[in-house]
Amino acid sequence: MHIAYRRVCLTLAAMHAYRASLLRFDAAGRPLFDTDGLLVVGPDAQGRQRVQDAGAHAEVAARHPGVAVTHWPGRILAPGFVDMHIHFPQTDIIGAPADGLLPWLENYTFPAESRFADPAHSAEVAEVFFDELLRNGVTTSLTFATSHPQSVQAFFEAAERRQLRMITGKVLQDRHSPDGVRDRTEQSLVDTEALIRRWHNQGRLGYAITPRFAPTSTDAQLRGAGELAAKYPDTWVHSHVAENKDEVKWARELFPQARSYLDVYAGFGLMRERAVYAHCIHFDDDDRRLMRDTGTASAVSPTSNLFLGSGFFDFEGADRIGYRYGLASDVGGGTSFSPFATMLAAYYVGREGQTKPGVSIAPSQLWWRHTGGAARALGLDGVIGNLQPGCEADFLVIDPKATPLLARKTALANNLEELLFSLIVLGDDRLIERTVISQAG
Ligand code: GUN
Ligand code: ZN
Repeated sequence: MHIAYRRVCLTLAAMHAYRASLLRFDAAGRPLFDTDGLLVVGPDAQGRQRVQDAGAHAEVAARHPGVAVTHWPGRILAPGFVDMHIHFPQTDIIGAPADGLLPWLENYTFPAESRFADPAHSAEVAEVFFDELLRNGVTTSLTFATSHPQSVQAFFEAAERRQLRMITGKVLQDRHSPDGVRDRTEQSLVDTEALIRRWHNQGRLGYAITPRFAPTSTDAQLRGAGELAAKYPDTWVHSHVAENKDEVKWARELFPQARSYLDVYAGFGLMRERAVYAHCIHFDDDDRRLMRDTGTASAVSPTSNLFLGSGFFDFEGADRIGYRYGLASDVGGGTSFSPFATMLAAYYVGREGQTKPGVSIAPSQLWWRHTGGAARALGLDGVIGNLQPGCEADFLVIDPKATPLLARKTALANNLEELLFSLIVLGDDRLIERTVISQAG
């Protein structure tokens, strides 16, 4: 019988080891794979479960005599996925059709988000959202809430109860937004700072200063957001940019003094390490250099870009200039919580959506961009997204035989790239047999 989903909370006082195939990444993002691997997990000085050792079973077991071992034959241990951009209040509007971004926001998104003024609704959707993330093997996300502080409160309370490493923030949108989601400039900044003080670095929680996008914020709100980003330098900054041609035109009209849409954010001090912008499609090389030179990262959201007809992220351009990026679902513009759907869509965009001849992104690279590479882009390298010693023990137990077709196909794989590609192309939430969350104490 197939076990569709089990979330396992391991409260282990001592070291424990897990034996199965093991997927990790080296510092360059190259895959390390042990067919017979061993992952040793144990508490750090604060009691937080971290990877203590990892590698080939024969070598690692010899270093840890007497440690209890759980054996999962035929399974693959892999890092929990990191979703670099998702909207928890849009869980219920996945698959809402529209003629592009701006009508989609007006007709579906803003009405759905206005309901998050209600703390009970926020709390209910937060639980559904976390269940869905974990079922799909996503253990950390950089997450939009809504403009209502109570949506942030509900999200963090639920994440804290589940001991998850999660990032969110109150959306800032003080103009060009309907009643029900529009906030007030001064109060929005007061609320943001209060939420930073309440939640940022509380356990594994992090705060993101979150202007929705430049067209829905006044200069005063963007300036205030930039001041908070300077005052709290280890918070995240999270927004959208250059997603859709109508949006770009609108932003250029509203901010004529900026060189480009992206440059609007630079002008308000909103580009720095731990600043993450979703989409980044309609860029030129000066924009890409600005990303690189400021340490800013892109959250590449291919299912959303295909669904809303926004365009195609330029992987070749990003790699040529050399700036940080990782993969994201962008649910509800995106069509799936599953990292397998996102990785496959990224592959399609790489093949067909480039101005230069298409690139074939290697399966292990797609995987890295949704785990260790995404963690690096978030400034969390060595903390999450990998199973090297020192990383927090958020990991997945993947069943490569989860469906009859997967069982046939993965048995035929001649090498790791073929195996990973089979999982990406044919996989979904059924692959995720367990999602293990690092516990503290
Ligand atoms: N731009 C501004 N708000 C949004 C949003 O909610 N989703 C997407 N995809 N783009 C946006
Ligand atoms: Zn988005």
